[in-house]
Amino acid sequence: MKILVTGGLGFIGSHTVVELAKENNEVIIIDNLYNSKIDVLENLEKITGKNFKFYECDLKNKEELEKVFKENEIDSVIHFAGYKAVGESVKKPLMYYSNNLVSTMNLLEIMDKYGIKKFVFSSSATVYGNPGIVKYTEDLGRGQASSPYGTTKCIIEKMLEDLYFSDNTWNISILRYFNPVGAHESGLIGEEPNGIPNNLMPYIMKVASGKLEMLSVFGNDYPTPDGTGIRDYIHVVDLAKGHVKALEKMKEGVNYYNLGSGKGVSVLELVNTFEKVNNVKVNYKVVGRRDGDLAEYYADPSKALNELNWKTEKTLEDICRDSWNYEKNNK
Ligand code: WQD
Repeated sequence: MKILVTGGLGFIGSHTVVELAKENNEVIIIDNLYNSKIDVLENLEKITGKNFKFYECDLKNKEELEKVFKENEIDSVIHFAGYKAVGESVKKPLMYYSNNLVSTMNLLEIMDKYGIKKFVFSSSATVYGNPGIVKYTEDLGRGQASSPYGTTKCIIEKMLEDLYFSDNTWNISILRYFNPVGAHESGLIGEEPNGIPNNLMPYIMKVASGKLEMLSVFGNDYPTPDGTGIRDYIHVVDLAKGHVKALEKMKEGVNYYNLGSGKGVSVLELVNTFEKVNNVKVNYKVVGRRDGDLAEYYADPSKALNELNWKTEKTLEDICRDSWNYEKNNK
């Protein structure tokens, strides 16, 4: 199949391109390089041995975007492109709403115009808000997202439901990610956040490599076994494979899937595993809780197993080893 991947040079997008290419799909990549680097394209070619048609294009530019559809016979679209920094979205809500919503509306309108109705959307467990339970199933429905970033995901999910209601020839898979971490085993692609990382794993890596001095553990007074926050960390390669499965099993309707390991891991468990696997030290200090953080949540991934025949295969040790390997390769 010929698949358009928006945000295809980003962290999750690039790993998904690798897995799509492995299954002999023809992949076209769009990326505006806002939060990614052009050398990822060369690394994708090194990993897969394949060349990819690449368009440096901002989805907010509808004319530019339509050119991609004019020039290629696209079968389906996986949509990653969007701003995703929770903290930044709180400071710049209008930038997040206009970018993430206008980009997606342009994309869907052009897909509709060209009769392309197979769409996989990159969503997030953040759409569940604070449901008051720890193990999330898809039928929980959306709650109150804790940031403008999360709210853009909720709005786009609703937009897709309304689109399907208006035209039930659409095949839509909405994939709700838990905490994507890790890197490709080659060490050629991985997570490269701009500036000081907000998320735990990239921060651990910068401290372990000496680029940052100390990890702040945001609270150890949560009602969890060691008092620190618990999350569901999923290896980005497992996550990428989930997208391939979602395409293979694509069906009519709006179909939601949690993509997570189904296992909760605490901050200190992750720090200790990272230190043990890589024989490095991660200096940390416990500070106050971060606003908006929940104590604990993780996926119930059984629907993805039953309907997509997908589950995670990588371990926490694989996550720590592959992340560190990428960090060392990209000093
Ligand atoms: C994980 C745990 C923190 C940093 C976010 C987004 C979510 C999704 C994944 C996009 C928590 C603790 C963190 C640090 C720490 N992104 N922590 N010190 O908040 O679970 O989810 O990323 O879809 O939408 O909300 O991820 O990595 O920031 O935090 O102690 O320096 O690590 O308190 O318990 P989070 P995270």
